[in-house]
Amino acid sequence: MTGARNGREESLFSLMRRSSAISALAKGAAWPYARPRDTPPKRGALIWKGSKMTVETPGARPANPRFSSGPCAKPPVFSLDKLRDAPLGRSHRSAIGKARLKAAIEGTREVLGIPAGYRIGIVPASDTGAVEMAMWSLLGERKVEMLAWESFGAGWVTDAVKQLKLDAVVKTADYGEIVDLATVNTDNDVVFTWNGTTSGVRVPNGEWIRDDRKGLTICDATSAAFAQYLPWEKLDVTTFSWQKVLGGEAAHGMLILSPRAVERLESYTPPWPLPKIFRLTKGGKLNEGIFEGATINTPSMLAVEDYLLALDWARGIGGLEGLHERACANLAAIQAFVAGHDWLAFLAHDPAIRSNTSVCLKFTDARITDGAGFAKAVVKRLEAEGVAYDIGAYRDAPPGLRIWCGGTVETTDVAALMPWIEWAYEAEIAALAETA
Ligand SMILES: Cc1ncc(COP(=O)(O)O)c(C=O)c1O
Repeated sequence: MTGARNGREESLFSLMRRSSAISALAKGAAWPYARPRDTPPKRGALIWKGSKMTVETPGARPANPRFSSGPCAKPPVFSLDKLRDAPLGRSHRSAIGKARLKAAIEGTREVLGIPAGYRIGIVPASDTGAVEMAMWSLLGERKVEMLAWESFGAGWVTDAVKQLKLDAVVKTADYGEIVDLATVNTDNDVVFTWNGTTSGVRVPNGEWIRDDRKGLTICDATSAAFAQYLPWEKLDVTTFSWQKVLGGEAAHGMLILSPRAVERLESYTPPWPLPKIFRLTKGGKLNEGIFEGATINTPSMLAVEDYLLALDWARGIGGLEGLHERACANLAAIQAFVAGHDWLAFLAHDPAIRSNTSVCLKFTDARITDGAGFAKAVVKRLEAEGVAYDIGAYRDAPPGLRIWCGGTVETTDVAALMPWIEWAYEAEIAALAETA
């Protein structure tokens, strides 16, 4: 796997090296989480159904065991104290409130490299709110192609087919794969998820989206934005939430509209009713205020301040390029481990579509008969040791592990986790043998 950009390719190991240099720079004075103690290698006594077995525990622990795929780990420099200047108890419509919201919008534009003509709005109900607001406001004008390769994309299919009852072509792929993008007709509207958080896949590029398309592309990019390069000229609606790649707080969504999406909003009125929190137009014109920080309803100014802190940290590590490199280095650390262990494999077999944020793994040892039970037991062991929290596969996905690798996670922590996975795997295999 390489970090490819503009045809330039880098080896995994150069990415890892560079990322740890960046991480060292990025480490601030205050560490947000208590550091678990390191343990000397020892023969741990594991009790399993009354019998004893011994499996050696690794020496080093991840300094931060937070590998959840959302809410994701805070940036390494985070501390609550750094939010002390948040305008708490002030109206979000006061001058200071508006200025902070505007700074969040413009900071997003700067770090993600969003073109000047695109509108960026802070909207209610997180990424789900942003996606559904776009679907309800824009779809129905023409046929829509719904592309799904994991649970969240499947949720958008349900919205289109069962709720909006649209004339939809539905294309789906199994977990670990994506659909054949060459078959997608972008003269239709297209709704898709750039990075499949629950299956560890990603769209490799936007070449399949025609520049002269007649339809709109609506892209759920919540676990891609700030970790992968998004081709803005190919995306008419892009959404993400603060709780994902930058490790922000939940409940706030971002809605990014191309000029063509605005044109559709101003020329088409959907036949169904729109609740207040979905309304993007006023008197047939775009409600520009939403895209200047005049949010539809009340945002959390604490969450805004937290997002601004994360954006500042992102700038300090080299912006999108730095974030991308850190995520790729994290994936590389897992790839190096998987390459040396034949009982573990990526759910996304093809490196071209393998995510560098939500990395999904499966156990391939033939001795495992209850895949879900085995993976659960491994996850439980790791959590009990305090070395990894929240790394079980998503509830609807094939059993296994899901390790968040976005830029807020340190590569040294990902690397330190790997021997622990081996430890937990061996302990569970030993337990299986004991019960056989
Ligand atoms: C691809 C994708 N879409 C949508 C969502 C829902 O996001 P939120 O909870 O921010 O609304 C998630 C959450 O993990 C996701 O991964």
